[in-house]
Amino acid sequence: MIQKVKICDTTLRDGQQSLLATRLSLEDILSVAEQMDQIGFYSMEVWGGATFDSCMRFLNEDPWERLRQLRKTIKNTKLQMLLRGQNLLGYRHYADDVVDEFVKRSVANGIDIIRIFDALNDLRNVERSLYATKKEGAHAQVAISYTNSPVHNMNYFVNICKDIKEMGADSICIKDMSGILYPFDAYELVSLIKKATALPVELHCHYTSGMAAMSYLKAVEAGCDILDCAISPMALSASQPADETMIASFAGTKYDTGIDIDALAALAEKFKLIRQEYHKFDLASPQVDPNVLRYQMPGGMISNFISQLREGNALDRLPEVLEEVPRVRADMGYPPLVTPSSQMVGSQALLNVLGGERYKMTTNEIKNYFRGEYGQPPAPVNEQIRKKVIGDEQPITCRPADLLPPQLEAAKNELGVYMETMEDLLSYCLFPQVAKDFLKTRLAGKTNVEFNMVHGAGKPVSYVPI
Ligand code: CO
Repeated sequence: MIQKVKICDTTLRDGQQSLLATRLSLEDILSVAEQMDQIGFYSMEVWGGATFDSCMRFLNEDPWERLRQLRKTIKNTKLQMLLRGQNLLGYRHYADDVVDEFVKRSVANGIDIIRIFDALNDLRNVERSLYATKKEGAHAQVAISYTNSPVHNMNYFVNICKDIKEMGADSICIKDMSGILYPFDAYELVSLIKKATALPVELHCHYTSGMAAMSYLKAVEAGCDILDCAISPMALSASQPADETMIASFAGTKYDTGIDIDALAALAEKFKLIRQEYHKFDLASPQVDPNVLRYQMPGGMISNFISQLREGNALDRLPEVLEEVPRVRADMGYPPLVTPSSQMVGSQALLNVLGGERYKMTTNEIKNYFRGEYGQPPAPVNEQIRKKVIGDEQPITCRPADLLPPQLEAAKNELGVYMETMEDLLSYCLFPQVAKDFLKTRLAGKTNVEFNMVHGAGKPVSYVPI
């Protein structure tokens, strides 16, 4: 039986987000987009994640215009985006009217496939965007945030996948953001999901631990349909396995992708040059970070600890902090370590160690988490710790967005003259300050020829380091 493997190329979203701090300009993207469209990828992940925020915050670019330009240029390949469920592309929950309109405009401006996930795998945070995607006639893929913990066993994930199918998803993605999916676990997980759901399965691994290409191979043997890869100069370390490696590995077998590896050579040369252009944003993460396997936490989290402890002259406390992370995570009911839970767990572990007493100091995010505002944790939280953090307050148990009143009308009044399109309004709902600054500059630019030239060329006006 022929089981052709499909490739989703992530270079223009996750690749650049993981390696170049999401700074690729539209001009550089358009210089390669048509050529990438000719390769024969099943899809290209080009939008969503951090690209939306970054366009306005760092590049003085309209993210919606980027999408329209991409759609105009990429005529053969499906365009894919990453959406954080009820968080959309921002960092908090938005009301349902914003979710519906955002999905509608994403599809109308050119997106074919929307990958939706929730940091806690709480499907109530996914359902609204899933239904909206289906309503707009696009492909709705739901991703599970993969992690290891005493509650995250095969059974747990397979049960979630059954629910995802029940909700009407078109495909399932296993999202291994930390690169901790072991090859033989990948085989088992994909086999079980395929058996339980019969849906197409896509695997998304980061290369961080060095295992991803092996996990891809085992996953394909188990029936995985689609692999997320990036062009070689934009692959490995914190990014995905390389297109070329995976395509060559399956060439001439029953899994053959049908993609000609020679066609990628010229493209790779171009990306080598592009990556050099952005060297000051190059995150230069290690090729393989074995600490990810030792501590089961994302590479970015460990390097954050190191830089924060170094700043406070407390680098010798690193082992204590690394030991505190699993304890905090257990207190919180084992959230997967992905945005925003990885930041919450990380800062609380630091506070617990440096503050001298556990949970003497807490962040607002942790308080909101224990109030149930992020959704239901994978396992019950530690009741004693919850009492210490929020006292006698009763946590909510409903879908968090049920408590949010509609937002669009009020936002329209706030934005006033700066709003030219519905897309502007959505940008504002997600990132009020950043979008307003961007839209103000745009309006001013309409009377300023020089500015228009800079903007029109798609070159960043100012860089702000993150
Ligand atoms: Co990713």
